[in-house]
Amino acid sequence: VCFQRKIWEGKTKIVFSTKDPNLIILKFKDDITALDGKKRDVIPGKGRINASVSSKLFTELERRGILTHFVKMVNSTSMLVRKLDMIKIEIVCRNYVAGQFARRFPMFKEGAKLSRPLVEFYLKSDELGDPLLTEDHAILLGLTSRGEALRAKALTLRVNEALTTFMAERNLKLVDFKLELGRDGSGKLRVGDELDADCMRLWDSETGNVLDKDVYRKGASVAEVQKIYGELYRRVVGG
Ligand code: ADP
Ligand code: TMP
Ligand code: ASP
Repeated sequence: VCFQRKIWEGKTKIVFSTKDPNLIILKFKDDITALDGKKRDVIPGKGRINASVSSKLFTELERRGILTHFVKMVNSTSMLVRKLDMIKIEIVCRNYVAGQFARRFPMFKEGAKLSRPLVEFYLKSDELGDPLLTEDHAILLGLTSRGEALRAKALTLRVNEALTTFMAERNLKLVDFKLELGRDGSGKLRVGDELDADCMRLWDSETGNVLDKDVYRKGASVAEVQKIYGELYRRVVGG
């Protein structure tokens, strides 16, 4: 496979075309951002770590029969994937009270387990600060259809079960995560983008220690963030 040309550079990944119009390459950068890109730093080695963690988790989903965009790694920071028609929704699934949900609903205690997993849709738009969408908003905005929204939710819950089990085997609690889904050539939904410490919350089941991007959001130094990402790599990939 060869990189053809850069078609897009985002906050944390660069997208390259390949000779095959159905395949693209996602190259993970060492950049880390928060607050919709307003805070940013470089964490040496992060691109390699997020690429390996993502590749491991996509492989695990595929093993359980969940469709994803993943094809293979092409080097230590780059993943060959099927090009999808991405749905411009950030789908968040929550198992425990944290982050924005904890702030919005203070009647729920931070860290408490929800009675069932919660699936939420947010508009993927940094300019607008990713506003929360109801299903009717998503349909009205032309982002999805009633039927597809239902399939997206079902797929998200399957991913949640798979990742929750995988993380539990590594003594990690999957608090919440964000997915980006897309349609493949035949219109089937697949899990796209990335699956790593940038887009999920993971807490050590025994100590409660945070092993994800929240340490950066809350002001940890580059060296501390590097250490946390390294530890997650060992738990998820090296185990
Ligand atoms: P952002 O700045 O939006 O966070 P990234 O740096 O993550 O962007 O860049 C990756 C971009 O590639 C995102 O816009 C994401 O939606 C898109 N993307 C991820 N997987 C696929 C795929 N399989 N096909 C097409 N686009 C994808
Ligand atoms: P939140 O509590 O801030 O809404 O975050 C929920 C989950 O979604 C958390 O695991 C982090 C992830 N997330 C992203 O990956 N990108 C984003 O832009 C946001 C807001 C959250
Ligand atoms: N707002 C997102 C976050 O904090 C991502 C970003 O803005 O860079 O996770």
